Amino acid sequence: MPLDIDTPTLQAHLRDLAREAREMRFDVAPNPCVGAGILAGGKLIVRGMHGHWGGPHAEVVALKAAAASGVPRGSWEALLVTLEPCSSFGKTPPCTEAIIAAGISRVVVGCLDPDPRHRGSGLEALKNAGIEVINLDGTVSLRDHSPHFLRWLSPERLRIPRPWTIAKWAQTRSGQLLPPKDVGGGRWISGPEALAEVQVMRGRVEGILTGFGTVRADDPRFTVRSPGQRKNPPQRFILDSDLRTPPDARLFAQLDAGDETDEAGGQVVIFCRFGADVGRARALAAAGAEVQEVRSMDRTRLDLQDVLLRMHERGIERLLLEAGPQLTSAMLEAGLVDQVCIYTGDVLGGEGATLADALVTVRLEERRDLEVGDTSRVDSFVTLPPGT
Ligand SMILES: NC(=O)c1ccc[n+]([C@@H]2O[C@H](COP(=O)([O-])OP(=O)(O)OC[C@H]3O[C@@H](n4cnc5c(N)ncnc54)[C@H](OP(=O)(O)O)[C@@H]3O)[C@@H](O)[C@H]2O)c1
Repeated sequence: MPLDIDTPTLQAHLRDLAREAREMRFDVAPNPCVGAGILAGGKLIVRGMHGHWGGPHAEVVALKAAAASGVPRGSWEALLVTLEPCSSFGKTPPCTEAIIAAGISRVVVGCLDPDPRHRGSGLEALKNAGIEVINLDGTVSLRDHSPHFLRWLSPERLRIPRPWTIAKWAQTRSGQLLPPKDVGGGRWISGPEALAEVQVMRGRVEGILTGFGTVRADDPRFTVRSPGQRKNPPQRFILDSDLRTPPDARLFAQLDAGDETDEAGGQVVIFCRFGADVGRARALAAAGAEVQEVRSMDRTRLDLQDVLLRMHERGIERLLLEAGPQLTSAMLEAGLVDQVCIYTGDVLGGEGATLADALVTVRLEERRDLEVGDTSRVDSFVTLPPGT
């Protein structure tokens, strides 16, 4: 079926899809923002967006929506997609396979994959399957729509790999990470809707990182409780130089993974300094932890770069930092945070340090403000390490 639509109109559709996909940038990062749509009768009959890290890609969402739309497959004229479809296995199977299986005869692409390892191979796979490819590379600019993805692919980042790290914290109106003692049991700042949101966020990362200060104060579990997310819970990483985590901490409660359970917890990994007490290490291993020695910086604190490299080697690509002020500020000041997610609860006053000093050492770029019940949420990307 010939395509009865001019190139400027196709480009306008692609730019429109890219704009919509960008709304999800904080949920998909470090993945790029991608939007797709199916054209029939000269109109976009459905749209699909890559909505969150680990979730289905835009092409797959659009094809599924088109199949459910009732518009006969024979009248689908083209799949429009803002970025070249992937042709290799990642978190999901290759999109090229889904496109070929859907029987679509034409694909219009707004931008080639910027990764030299994959650039052009998605289009090749489609052409080899007999699909007409209209390459409108340059219509969608990743620099405008997904600058975070270009940072993720930068040579510097590939040379010293580390997970994409999201620092998440809750603060009171005065910026403190602990409420006054008589509020929220001296611990909780965010409202129930925000706490539920954090549960979902945990299911969309591969690792959670905290410090011993938080383990000592809160005895947290860092589990995943949301339905549909319990099969593969994130690994739980603790920085504990001297292995002071008690072997009866709630982190070690037996929790099976799988959707039948109410709560699932991933492997607990404790990073300690070289030469930490062997007896403590044995007791923690018996409780279920994996204990790993890492280098120390200035002979006191664990070397954060080394810790992140170890995590990357374990396959952690997206990491949630859920720590107290000490570790969160150390990560920010070391330029090891890529994104922040700040919940400000409706609580006056509070205890302890704020992260204000650490935040002025980094550059924040782009911003999303949300209201989550009575708690406000701000997301932003950290673009430049300190000193650059
Ligand atoms: N509002 C929130 O979102 C939130 C979130 C989490 C915790 N909290 C609260 O924060 C409080 C704990 O704060 P915190 O600052 O003590 O805890 P933290 O930041 O979670 O942990 C700090 C500990 O991590 C260890 N560590 C190892 N290497 C480090 C490094 N390179 N840099 C920094 N720390 C390193 C240190 O213990 P070792 O020297 O023993 O290794 C350090 O004392 C608790 O009261 C908790 O309730 C609030």
